[in-house]
Amino acid sequence: MKIKKAIIPVAGLGTRMLPATKAIPKEMLPVVDKPLIQYVVNEAVSAGIRNIILVTHSSKNAIENHFDKSFELEATLEKRVKRQLLQEIQSIIPSDVTIMHVRQGEARGLADAILCARDLVDDGPFAILLPDVLIDEFRADPRKDNLAEMVKNFESTGISQIMVEQVPHEQTGSYGIVASDQNLDGTIPGSTFDITDMVEKPRPENSPSDMAVVGRYVLSGNIWPLFRETPVGAGGELQLTDTLRLLLRQEKIAGYRLCGRSWDCGNKLGYLEANIEYAIRHPNIGSEFKRYLLDKIAGKDDAGTISEN
Ligand code: G1P
Repeated sequence: MKIKKAIIPVAGLGTRMLPATKAIPKEMLPVVDKPLIQYVVNEAVSAGIRNIILVTHSSKNAIENHFDKSFELEATLEKRVKRQLLQEIQSIIPSDVTIMHVRQGEARGLADAILCARDLVDDGPFAILLPDVLIDEFRADPRKDNLAEMVKNFESTGISQIMVEQVPHEQTGSYGIVASDQNLDGTIPGSTFDITDMVEKPRPENSPSDMAVVGRYVLSGNIWPLFRETPVGAGGELQLTDTLRLLLRQEKIAGYRLCGRSWDCGNKLGYLEANIEYAIRHPNIGSEFKRYLLDKIAGKDDAGTISEN
């Protein structure tokens, strides 16, 4: 079955990025020159998905506006003959992609956010992309687009796919962690393995592995009834990891090992690292920015002389 729809939950308040996110949705923070949400939507579109459902919140209107047509801006750019900018604004999403919005009234957890989109999807399979995470579009093998690969795997096997990445053992408490009968250390990026269990944010001493869920899921439609059976989990919230555990009792789920790396832009350090990486590789400003960084590291001051300390 074809994956036609993706759900992107954007209702979270972004408290880890305050004060920047007091009046701006965290998904609208830019990584170099595009808001985070645009990278994530582009990733879904590149994997062949044409219907995107954003599960949103009253404070997130800027996201809706970003994907909407702006007549005033377009007319102004046209009048000023700013063709390049006009083209960029008009191609934020391809014309055959539809973005829909539904609100999550109360923050009750990721599983609850996904359930809010239920009436906008059919009973078929779908993808979920979490907007805090950028999947590196540079270092990964350019022949391997990770989400597209997961979609392809699902379409040929019918087995749900969850993207995972190895994290330092002491960080397991920040992620959903998967268990497997296989030795996961040896798994090759871009390959899959059978998941036998999952646990949301385990302490390192209780963690079944170091393989963390990185926020990309391609799921069988059989998961839908299970959302309503999901018990309240970690942090007093309805956790997607717990719904997936219920799915595991009735069918296989594969872990897909990320090829390349991810950037967690939901915290300040990860967000800054992503900006530096994406800036260095930017086609227009990349080489100049890299030179600036190298000078900075070499201790040169603004006048180009090496400082003594
Ligand atoms: C969510 C998921 C977690 C996953 C993580 C990836 O947690 O619940 O399983 O590992 O995203 O970023 P959150 O970061 O929203 O607390």
